[in-house]
Amino acid sequence: MFEINALSDAVGAEIVGLDLAQPLDDDTFGRVHQAHLDHQVLVFRDQEITPEQHIAFSRRFGDLSGHVYEQFLLSGHPEILKVSNKKTPEGDFVGLNSAGRRWHSDLSYAEIPSLGSLLYALEIPPSGGDTLFNNMYSAYETLPQMTKDRIAGLKAEFLIGSARKYYTENERPALTSEQLASVPSVEHPVVRTHPESGRKALYVNSAHTVRILGIDNAEAEDLLTELTEHSVKPEFVYRHKWQLHDLVFWDNRCCMHIAEPPPEGANRHMHRTTVVGDRPY
Ligand code: SIN
Repeated sequence: MFEINALSDAVGAEIVGLDLAQPLDDDTFGRVHQAHLDHQVLVFRDQEITPEQHIAFSRRFGDLSGHVYEQFLLSGHPEILKVSNKKTPEGDFVGLNSAGRRWHSDLSYAEIPSLGSLLYALEIPPSGGDTLFNNMYSAYETLPQMTKDRIAGLKAEFLIGSARKYYTENERPALTSEQLASVPSVEHPVVRTHPESGRKALYVNSAHTVRILGIDNAEAEDLLTELTEHSVKPEFVYRHKWQLHDLVFWDNRCCMHIAEPPPEGANRHMHRTTVVGDRPY
């Protein structure tokens, strides 16, 4: 048996007393699955897991995707993306250093975006480098009825790299033309229905959403700003302060997240798996 302790009023619960290095029986897995649906972000404390065990646990939730930045996939384990500010002796980042520096939902730029991501902390800075998560159900539910009516049925365009202007070349290498061609822009609904809970959640974000379609450009720009600002109000946000060997599993279908940079000179090194979801509707 393990404990489930809520971490905030917004989202998040910590799971204590579960060893993810061991295969989970179906009852235990069912409880974890339900906790994930209930709390949207699960923090598994004190995990000592190998890449194989990280992958095996992630696969219980579905197929895993690679990443367009294939140069940052773990050698021998292409299911794992390295998120890291550590450098090789030649001075190159060993992982995607700037991952998640704008509010986003992982792979929302893909035709079939992600169900959830599982990020495992292998090295953390003494302070800083927090990750913030929000609740996109609450963001949707607290919109004025007039706004809900206005956005009902609207679609938006999503594209990787649409927030590239916020990164320097050193932080985030430009995608090659082949990498770019593998992720053409896609359309998703502004409000999606979670396929398991049946609840509605806002789905636009400031990293990958280019514009809202079907309305005048200036109006669409204002609406996007209004929605993205509303969705990250403090009451919808949980700030995660990492502990070594936390494994955090968030639901990309009803949460966004943003990563704060660690202080200068401090290492932050993580492994991420990404579970494939389904087409938003
Ligand atoms: C991400 O966006 O997946 C990275 C989050 C983090 O580094 O905290």
